[in-house]
Amino acid sequence: MGLAVFGAIILVFLPAPVRCGVSLGFIIDDTGSMSDDISGVRIKSLELFDAAVVGTTYDHYVISLFNDPTTGPVFETQDANDAREFLLNNITVNGGGDCPELAATGIIAAIEASKPNSHLYFFSDASAKDGPTRGPTAKRLALSTGCRVTPILTGTCGTTRKKRAVGQLARSGQSAGWRVRRATSDADHACVTGDIYDKLACVTGGEVYRVSKSEVAAIVDIIIEKAAANITDDGDRDLILESIYNPVAKETNLHSFCVDPSVHDVVVSLIGPSAVLSLYDSTGSPLPSSAYVDIVNIGSVKVKKIVSPTAGTYSVSLSSSADHTLKISARSTLGIVPSFLQGGLIEKTPSTEAKAIVYVEVSESSAAAVFNTLDMEGLDGTVFDTISLERVNSTHLVSSSAVPVPDDCFYIKVSNDGTSEGCSFTRSSPTAICPTNNPVPTTTTPSPTTTDDWSWLY
Ligand SMILES: *[C@@H]1O[C@H](CO)[C@@H](O)[C@H](O)[C@H]1NC(C)=O
Ligand SMILES: *[C@@H]1O[C@H](CO)[C@@H](O)[C@H](O)[C@H]1NC(C)=O
Ligand SMILES: *[C@@H]1O[C@H](CO)[C@@H](O)[C@H](O)[C@H]1NC(C)=O
Repeated sequence: MGLAVFGAIILVFLPAPVRCGVSLGFIIDDTGSMSDDISGVRIKSLELFDAAVVGTTYDHYVISLFNDPTTGPVFETQDANDAREFLLNNITVNGGGDCPELAATGIIAAIEASKPNSHLYFFSDASAKDGPTRGPTAKRLALSTGCRVTPILTGTCGTTRKKRAVGQLARSGQSAGWRVRRATSDADHACVTGDIYDKLACVTGGEVYRVSKSEVAAIVDIIIEKAAANITDDGDRDLILESIYNPVAKETNLHSFCVDPSVHDVVVSLIGPSAVLSLYDSTGSPLPSSAYVDIVNIGSVKVKKIVSPTAGTYSVSLSSSADHTLKISARSTLGIVPSFLQGGLIEKTPSTEAKAIVYVEVSESSAAAVFNTLDMEGLDGTVFDTISLERVNSTHLVSSSAVPVPDDCFYIKVSNDGTSEGCSFTRSSPTAICPTNNPVPTTTTPSPTTTDDWSWLY
């Protein structure tokens, strides 16, 4: 026994294995109607785990199963082959009873088993029975760990939404436990009025795919692309440059965006019924097909990747027959992480109880100087506040004054004015920031762990 204790103590001091990637998580509804969805993932599993082994994005795999009234097991491994074996051989669809399932419990279990900043893909054809009770916990956990949740949905429960065509975004109205923001600009925004899946995706930087069961395999190509893309926290990040929701059908809408010199790849995605998406270069000419790759090309989802673009202004033309979301992501080493100074403490999550000085860490020191404006943007795109940024040192920027903290979740977006060279480009916080209403200490003395002198800010 003495030896066992000794061994345990030694183990504690062994250095942790070097693991640079994040977890790839699958949260899978294994009730009776899910066979086709699970087959869609299985069909792509060889390609997927091969890509994961070659790429450096993922080095840990989590598979969390849920049903009703039970959930689990949660399988986790560092071995891509074991994960694939589990996916192929250890999921048996069964039961389910009534339509909604314990989705939030399955999501929570996956987050708890995953590394921070992981990518979690959720597969179900039902609503979340435990959304009202456990949805808020799932959201809080996802935000505190930086885990991104991407639901791939092939159905829903209930009399009103059941009738909605595949590809349309659900508007379930208020679900208990979630704060629903009264949007001023766009009350129909899926992030604000959608269901637990819309809201989780929206605050964590994910997106929701509502597709048919036969289209699930096509969506898995998005996961394969990311697995091969070498997305790591200290290397290329998967940045969301813009996410624009349009609540109505649009015919050939043109939208331009800026690609800065640090960007390696750009992924443009359009989700909406009868989605049509085309890419144009800075001169307005269509991008030649050699300049991009079609990652997904199905009726309600178009995803194109511009490979190694030269810096400049690009544009997309898009159309859809109903509500739709355009998302522009980029792979770049240049990202930002905001934090908030309140009552002498720097926190990742601010309180609504006092104004905050926003403090922005820029991952590339050479680039810190380029950002000069900060926007606080609501989930529906409403800008609450625009404030100028000042440089603290080579990696840190600070808001020129304290700003009120919004009541609801918001994104921090920094931009430059683009006058020196090239177009004006932006960076957003990797996830939304959902404030607390905890009291703020009244002291203005910096906390003992903060060695920097913040007195000049008061
Ligand atoms: C997967 O299923 C096989 C065969 O039934 C079983 O031997 C194995 O223990 C299962 N693995 C896990 C991780 O559950
Ligand atoms: C990711 O890294 C691997 C191994 O370093 C390399 O073979 C592969 O080409 C890289 N993928 C991309 C998209 O750069
Ligand atoms: C820049 O300033 C921030 C805030 O004062 C500090 O945390 C950081 O260590 C500084 N970095 C450098 C490179 O001086």
